[in-house]
Amino acid sequence: MYLEMRKLNRVGTDIDRASQDILCKNLVVFPTETVYGIGANALDEVAVEKIFKAKKRPKDNPLIVHVCDIDMVYKVAKNVTNIERKLMDRFWPGPLSIVLEKRDEIPSNVTAGLSTVSVRMPSNELALKLIKKANVPVAAPSANVSGKPSGTNVTDIYDELKDDVSYFLDGGKSDIGIESTVVRVVGDKIIILRPGKITVDNLKEVCQNVEVDKNCFIKVNKDDKVISPGMKHKHYAPETKCVMLSYSDYDNLNLKINNIIKENSDKRICFMCESNVITNVEEAKNVLKIDLGETLEDVSSDLFSSLRLLDRSNVDVCYIQEFSKEGIGLGVMNRVLRTCDYDII
Ligand code: TXA
Ligand code: MG
Repeated sequence: MYLEMRKLNRVGTDIDRASQDILCKNLVVFPTETVYGIGANALDEVAVEKIFKAKKRPKDNPLIVHVCDIDMVYKVAKNVTNIERKLMDRFWPGPLSIVLEKRDEIPSNVTAGLSTVSVRMPSNELALKLIKKANVPVAAPSANVSGKPSGTNVTDIYDELKDDVSYFLDGGKSDIGIESTVVRVVGDKIIILRPGKITVDNLKEVCQNVEVDKNCFIKVNKDDKVISPGMKHKHYAPETKCVMLSYSDYDNLNLKINNIIKENSDKRICFMCESNVITNVEEAKNVLKIDLGETLEDVSSDLFSSLRLLDRSNVDVCYIQEFSKEGIGLGVMNRVLRTCDYDII
């Protein structure tokens, strides 16, 4: 099917075609350095509505607006503070979304009725060219049906989005693999609403006062009041049941894995771990081993595509290793915990 559509010219690198689609109120899937986005003209309410339909996204979850230069920021946001501007100058283009005061030109469905808008300038060349050519800000959540792992390559998401998307701009595999860091500046404090590649230490280069919102690491209930609506929605959830494996040291982890294998000979199970752990897992007919790579950057880059591979693999339960919360690990752990719905053994 994917190849068939390539022939029909609906997948490719045609910026003119993609920008025309944006201006004709159609949806375009495009690559960013974090994950793929499903984009529409952020100034057009009708076009934006199509994103919510395609993703089956809850109406109370606002979208991120993508810009290609600083001038465009001031067309969607106002009263930008010193710290906010410093964040842009230091980290853009790049994987940081900043929640700003919204201008009236942005329709209210983009921001789910909030008075703020989350803005980001991606560094991916195709993304920047698309926005520049269309010459409008592009509203784009991650390209996936709501609740599913975000798309990090076109083949993974093609089938679930093809009926609603006019064109897929193909930029190969996403580099970072987890979504941008989302921050909000309150007074002289930077609050992280979603951890990602831009870390606490990175942000401290701009302002010492950095806090990670506590809801990034606890299960939030439907009716709880949160600072970012995305916190209370189901996320990153594959069909397959996932459980996180906590451990004190590698010997302890290997022991835990061996016990799980012994106790589950009647089930099809999967282990998703870093390379040096997965190589020690014994081979068995009912055991699928998914190697997430050596570094936290490798894990980040492969996590979502591995969760999608898992769902194609007919497994009963998947055990995902706990990771360090250092650097990008904080973002990885935020995704893993939610993937496992906070089920930890
Ligand atoms: O890396 C990314 O950020 C990707 C690529 C495509 O840019 N986009 C992305 O969008 O992950 P999405 O919609 O999947 O996640 C946006 C997150 C949600 O958790 C949402 O609640 C939060 O940002 N958000 C958006 N606007 C907000 C606002 N005004 N205030 C607080 N949180 C906001
Ligand atoms: Mg998303």
